[in-house]
Amino acid sequence: MKILVTGASGLLGSKICLLALKKGHEVYSVYREHAVDSGKPVKLDLTSWSDVFKAFSELKPEAVIHAAAYTDVDGCEANRDTAWSVNAESTRLVAEASARIGAHLTYVSTDYVFDGEKGLYTEDDEPNPINYYGYTKLKGEEYVKQHGEQWCIARASVIYGWGAEHKPNFATWLISSLSQGKEVKVLTDQHVSPTFNTNLAEMLLEIAERRITGVLHTAGATRVSRHGFALKLAEAFQLDVNMVKPASMREIPWKARRPRDSSLNVSKALMLLESKPLRLEQALEMMRKETVDKDGKESLKLWK
Ligand SMILES: NC(=O)c1ccc[n+]([C@@H]2O[C@H](COP(=O)([O-])OP(=O)(O)OC[C@H]3O[C@@H](n4cnc5c(N)ncnc54)[C@H](OP(=O)(O)O)[C@@H]3O)[C@@H](O)[C@H]2O)c1
Repeated sequence: MKILVTGASGLLGSKICLLALKKGHEVYSVYREHAVDSGKPVKLDLTSWSDVFKAFSELKPEAVIHAAAYTDVDGCEANRDTAWSVNAESTRLVAEASARIGAHLTYVSTDYVFDGEKGLYTEDDEPNPINYYGYTKLKGEEYVKQHGEQWCIARASVIYGWGAEHKPNFATWLISSLSQGKEVKVLTDQHVSPTFNTNLAEMLLEIAERRITGVLHTAGATRVSRHGFALKLAEAFQLDVNMVKPASMREIPWKARRPRDSSLNVSKALMLLESKPLRLEQALEMMRKETVDKDGKESLKLWK
């Protein structure tokens, strides 16, 4: 199948491209600034309608996985125009272009569309974002729903895994810090559903292959505090758990507000998908295995 992946230079998109290639798909890897070398690289600014429409109508993908976004939550609060054009407006363009060529669209959205007052949100719960990032991602969801029938909105939460060196994520930051003997302070009062990029990429590819439609929570299957997540990571990578110190949301001078408990209920994905949302321990075991190269040696050097 011909699949076009946006955000191919990102933490999630790069993994989707690799797995899709392994499964024998023809992959168009859309990036903007950071060049990619997997699949057929396509340099494209998704905020330009003429460029998006030209690329989609020339390449004619059968499925589109839209993982590009402006993901810096505080950055979105400060640079609202950019957040709007990348997260909301370009999703409208991608949705319109996908509908015009009859491609199935999977839009990767976020737990931050919720206010975090309830936790373990289901697909039927009402979004109510409390920061601009969440607001623009929710607008993206609304645009997707307005364009045709062949779409799936797949929400994830705190994506982690091995990714590009230029952009550490929570897990690689923690592993890197603890490996260097640095103490870290992590929140005990923010709960999430950490989502391993490989697990998410597998779920998204299944959604695209089976042309699944509707809203689906495709996060990890464990609700945990950031602090609990950090302890599990430290244990899995045999790092010093005593260097993980508790902190509270009150102590952090964020520009954007954060939901207190944006964990997602993944029962629907567990029932529907063959690639199931993994529990945290299973996902960390997989992440550990990904660090062992073919000679059986540990390869954590990037993060030390
Ligand atoms: N990270 C999380 O914890 C998290 C949690 C829940 C949901 N999500 C959602 O999951 C998706 C993937 O997140 P991620 O962490 O993998 O993202 P990421 O690593 O921050 O990568 C963002 C990607 O978007 C691309 N991009 C940004 N602006 C663009 C533009 N104008 N035109 C074309 N491409 C553009 C970037 O390309 P260049 O770098 O080449 O410019 C990059 O490939 C996003 O939709 C995000 O909202 C993320």
